[in-house]
Amino acid sequence: MDKKPGKHVSASSEITPASSTAEAPAREESGAPHLTRRSFLVWVGSASAAGAVPFSAAKTVSSDAAEIEPPVRLIVNGVAHEARVDIRTSLLDYLREDLQLTGTKKGCDHGQCGACTVHVNRRRVNSCLSFVAMHDGDEITTIEGLGSPDKLHPMQAAFVRHDGLQCGYCTAGQIMSAVALLHEPCGAGDAALKDAMSGNLCRCGAYSNILAAIKQVRTS
Ligand code: FES
Ligand code: FES
Repeated sequence: MDKKPGKHVSASSEITPASSTAEAPAREESGAPHLTRRSFLVWVGSASAAGAVPFSAAKTVSSDAAEIEPPVRLIVNGVAHEARVDIRTSLLDYLREDLQLTGTKKGCDHGQCGACTVHVNRRRVNSCLSFVAMHDGDEITTIEGLGSPDKLHPMQAAFVRHDGLQCGYCTAGQIMSAVALLHEPCGAGDAALKDAMSGNLCRCGAYSNILAAIKQVRTS
């Protein structure tokens, strides 16, 4: 396409498409296909259909070819692991599916809810947005590594005391975020705390109790 200023190519102008396995329209003597907008769309449609790969076949081919090499070595809750997984495996899926640490929850799987929050080298991370391949040598902490039923972390105990949960689905992520927050620069007021926790959503709306729990730990 000529990109000189002022040169406009209308929908019915000639278009030279990329090569395809579909049968191309008849060519003019110059060798370039002569297309109207309508004939171009019909041609592209038939080319796409001809080149389409069945979904199951495409998935099979790609999943065979992508294991991490060499394996990633990481420490999860104080235990050393070697991860031999598909290179596209998220940290969240590795924790839940491979290590069976299902306290970390999958909410949106798109970095929008915070349910999957874990600590990486003591900093909070949305594990759904992070690949295992990025964590060679890292220390990961999940809710299972924070406290135990017999000895709760002070933040866990505060959530219990202040009823900082209803269904509990967001709670592990809320607590992991709140614990990391203790080591972050954050103002003392409610607005600063709410802002710092804004990446963790609660569909049950337990926000006021969550805030009360965090404030108790911060001031104790
Ligand atoms: Fe990771 Fe929602 S599951 S942010
Ligand atoms: Fe139900 Fe937060 S307690 S989503």
